[in-house]
Amino acid sequence: MLSYRHEFHAGNVGDLIKHSVLSLIIDYLKQKPAPIRYIDTHAGAGLYSTRSAMAAKTGEYGLGAGAIVSHDLSAHLGSYMNVLTRYAARHQYPGSPLLAAELLRAQDKLWLYELHTTEFPILHQIFARDRRVHLAHADGYAALKGLLPVQNARALVLLDPSYETQSDYAAVTQCVEQGYSRMPHGVFAIWYPVVNNPALAIMIKKISAIAQNKLWRFELTATDGEKSGMTATGMLVINPPWTLARDLEAAFQKICPLLPFEQTNFTATCIKQ
Ligand SMILES: C[S@@+](CC[C@H](N)C(=O)[O-])C[C@H]1O[C@@H](n2cnc3c(N)ncnc32)[C@H](O)[C@@H]1O
Repeated sequence: MLSYRHEFHAGNVGDLIKHSVLSLIIDYLKQKPAPIRYIDTHAGAGLYSTRSAMAAKTGEYGLGAGAIVSHDLSAHLGSYMNVLTRYAARHQYPGSPLLAAELLRAQDKLWLYELHTTEFPILHQIFARDRRVHLAHADGYAALKGLLPVQNARALVLLDPSYETQSDYAAVTQCVEQGYSRMPHGVFAIWYPVVNNPALAIMIKKISAIAQNKLWRFELTATDGEKSGMTATGMLVINPPWTLARDLEAAFQKICPLLPFEQTNFTATCIKQ
């Protein structure tokens, strides 16, 4: 049974890096008219209240997106900030499928997967009238290989499990391997928590072997000095736009000092085999 509810964490530093990466990739892909196929294997509920009891319990929104929302970052993250500020005015935070749907165009399509019995109906309600969106209350890992390669379009895949079970690390690796072999030019973006767990190191090593010099690793550290637990959060991106590392570095140079943590740092690394 799935217990993870993203509303506890919506808009936290993990979402901040994940959704910054997502919006910059979409901005880049939109420079050409060719359609985009966005596949979100772990969609979540799609929309979150920043004032709910769940959000208040952790306060994570205020430590992430909530800490930057009133600042002018339009020169660096214009698309993300535009969506973020619109939803913040309603005390809401858009999850990855809603952010993508806001940024994608009429000719683009979205495939969204969510297994949780509470989250899926919310997702369904949000997208019921959006004809670009294909929704399934199903396992996103299993679905991906059947969707690739996409025909006459560019593919952008987001893999964003909660890693609440150890098996997620191996499942992500296998899913990337199958997806990449079917569509080696697709863009694959994978979120992960930076934790001291051998399964994470193995996942990154295996994905770097699969992606063969086309893999970048982006990490945001935000910590008050704790030595255990998650002190940083990261994204792996296979086939990133050539502008992504440069744009993220410029954006997080502005964002890091705004985050209410003792130590913050952003790194971008091209992983060579
Ligand atoms: C971290 S949340 C997703 C957050 C979302 N991507 C965002 O950025 O707004 C992970 C979600 O994956 C769902 N989930 C877990 N295993 C899944 C699977 N195998 N297939 C589809 N969804 C799954 C969980 O119920 C949870 O809602």
